Amino acid sequence: MVTIERIAQFVATQAAGDHSGHDLAHIQRVVNLSDYLVGFYPEVDQTVVLAAAWTHDVLDEKLVSDPARLRRLRQELTTCYQTAGLDPAQITAVYAIIDHLSYAKNLRNHWTLTLAGQLVQDADRLDAIGAVGIGRAFYYGASTGAPMFDPALPPRENLDHAAYRQVTPVINHFYEKLFRLGDLMNTPEAKRIAQERTAVMRQFVAEFKAEWQFGASQDN
Ligand code: ADP
Ligand code: NI
Repeated sequence: MVTIERIAQFVATQAAGDHSGHDLAHIQRVVNLSDYLVGFYPEVDQTVVLAAAWTHDVLDEKLVSDPARLRRLRQELTTCYQTAGLDPAQITAVYAIIDHLSYAKNLRNHWTLTLAGQLVQDADRLDAIGAVGIGRAFYYGASTGAPMFDPALPPRENLDHAAYRQVTPVINHFYEKLFRLGDLMNTPEAKRIAQERTAVMRQFVAEFKAEWQFGASQDN
């Protein structure tokens, strides 16, 4: 029998104290979204989807940079999957997802994910957009010391991995990534939700810029 609860406990310990927007609440939302999306695909192994959703950020490059620590964590994670009752094929399937899912890893290569992986990727991307996405962008921006907005700095195009990780005004991040995510969704239901969430962000950014520039064109 598989007990996803064990995996959840492992992740709760790992995610404690995160201040980059990858906290446990993000993980929980991705799990909920993944659980919702997998409901459209009864043929997909729900255990693989949920295990991947819970653990998709455990080995993230931003959270763990030391290679030795990364190796140790990976071993602990494998043990955790085994203890939870996943069989070897399920563990391989989960690693294939979490090793290739992130936006940063797909800037240069376009990894082909299994349908299970596509669902978790959609869930992770949905949590980056909409009202929560706006909140996360400012939260992340603050953690890197980024300014909210700088009208003199236009958004950049065709970012590679290094450019993606450079500090950029938070409003630029909407153009450089967040407004594009809707078109990158794998599944129809995620595309539908993304459209609603993108509209929320577009309205927010338009209002933000209008307020920022309020009165600026008038002579004082
Ligand atoms: P992924 O895990 O898919 O590679 P990231 O870890 O880069 O994605 O992003 C995690 C969260 O931080 C997302 O909500 C994303 O929008 C936000 N974020 C990433 N880079 C920036 C940035 N330069 N400015 C503002 N928010 C950012
Ligand atoms: Ni994530």
